Amino acid sequence: MTESPAADRSDRRWWADAVFYQIYPRSFADLSGDGVGDLLGVADRLGYLELLGVDAIWLSPVTRSPMADHGYDVSDPRDIDPLFGGMAAFDALLSAAHDSDIKVVMDLVPNHTSREHPWFEEALRSPTGSAARERYIFRDGRGPSGAEPPNNWRSIFGGSAWTRIAEPDGSPGQWYLHLFAPEQPDLDWNNPEVWADLEKTMRFWLDRGIDGFRIDVAHGMAKPPGLPDMPATPDGSVVELLTGDENDIRFNNPGVHRIHRKIRRVLDDYPDAVAIGEIWVRDGSEFAQYVRPDELHLGFNFALAEAPWSAARIRTAIDESLAAVHAVRAVPTWTLSNHDVDREVTRLAKGADADAGRDIGTKRARALILVELALPGTAFIYNGAELGLPNVDLPDSALQDPVWERSGHTDRGRDGCRVPLPWGGDRPPYEFSTSADTWLPMPDDWASLTTEAQLEDADSTLSLYRTAIELRKSRSEFSGDSIDWYGSRPDALAFRRSAGGLICVVNAGTEPIGLPPGTPLLSSSPLTGEGLLPPDSAAWLVPPAAADRGA
Ligand code: GLC
Repeated sequence: MTESPAADRSDRRWWADAVFYQIYPRSFADLSGDGVGDLLGVADRLGYLELLGVDAIWLSPVTRSPMADHGYDVSDPRDIDPLFGGMAAFDALLSAAHDSDIKVVMDLVPNHTSREHPWFEEALRSPTGSAARERYIFRDGRGPSGAEPPNNWRSIFGGSAWTRIAEPDGSPGQWYLHLFAPEQPDLDWNNPEVWADLEKTMRFWLDRGIDGFRIDVAHGMAKPPGLPDMPATPDGSVVELLTGDENDIRFNNPGVHRIHRKIRRVLDDYPDAVAIGEIWVRDGSEFAQYVRPDELHLGFNFALAEAPWSAARIRTAIDESLAAVHAVRAVPTWTLSNHDVDREVTRLAKGADADAGRDIGTKRARALILVELALPGTAFIYNGAELGLPNVDLPDSALQDPVWERSGHTDRGRDGCRVPLPWGGDRPPYEFSTSADTWLPMPDDWASLTTEAQLEDADSTLSLYRTAIELRKSRSEFSGDSIDWYGSRPDALAFRRSAGGLICVVNAGTEPIGLPPGTPLLSSSPLTGEGLLPPDSAAWLVPPAAADRGA
């Protein structure tokens, strides 16, 4: 029983209890000094990732892109963008990461390409009905002169999901579908060339030695036959945003599973590689279909990233997530945030008064990472969460997310969670870059949040993450793939890893609470003098009988 859970796991499923760290490359570390993060910057900071203790990194897209959606608009999926240092920098990072025992997972974007992809450029030069057009979703418009979009779908980023092109002779022409920005035309997944090209891309990177893919919009590639109109909502409008609602006909069409099975067959040629799908599908049994044994290995589960600070809601999020994947014998995943959603420090402060807000958000975020890391399965950490970074209120003039323009300046988009990481020093750019002109401005009050300020401070959020990851890796109490709940007050929750016995307790109420019997291992805020767990906090305990057999 003293053996670590890592020792007896099959290497083939290294990901099944791994801690992944998501790097948003523009914002992690800039070695070239142009104000935008790059891959040599990541290589330069691998020592930090080793200290943090993560098993793998997931790189948001670094392939060639005009950057209309910061890399999620890919113009060449088999090359690295010069902005990030080109292929040489990628190869250097990959081998340095592997030398440090850190796996590398890349983002794969199969739903759409960039408008500057050679295929789309060819489609624009080619006539209606040509093979070049059929790689994308071109349709004639409605109305006598075709001036109305082919259906009523809205883009996730705002506005119509259709853009009209000029035909090669300059006349107003067909429309093409883009579920995201107009710079991101959707591919037609009924076209065999589209699959053949994705397979080529997958093998290209897997043969180069990467350890897997995060698959962008993995619930989006298949479209409903005939592209019918979406039903209007009661107020007459048409749904815009990514709702995760299984009735949203733009997503989660049954044909998508055939594509995932093909993707899996390629991955099976590389048995250590993993595929993680971005699946915004809330219904548990629908979600589970994506992680059946012949589809994706893992699916992002956003339940904890969406749960408000409520014991009941957190418990439901956990129960529903576990039930969904257990039904198909898949591994659960957990995440508190990513590059598309508010940072947890900010999100969890909602409802608290403005002055106390950031403190309370930080406390709750520290508690929730102990929940995430106590659960069975794979954990994802978004870069900067380990520093307790909040969202940043950026001035209008700094905003870059296409959502800001597309929404007619009504939705500020996702830039607030993408501000570069502070590494050291006491003012912007906090050693992120040698340039003061960082791609998004960094706030003046982040001196206490830098890695330098936090590394040696035992009470910092970074130290909490490091200790928690280390304990999770080395203690036998974290083994097993199920949990049991303890009875608790309605404003608290407590569970236990069924096999290993680790206990995790959360106080989401307003008064300190007592802990179940056991030896405290770690807590997100200091216990009171009487050994009680304060509000907005979580603690890990080792059950009495196991207290002396850990690491
Ligand atoms: C995914 C990405 C998001 C991107 C979108 C379009 O949701 O996470 O950042 O904008 O896909 O590719």
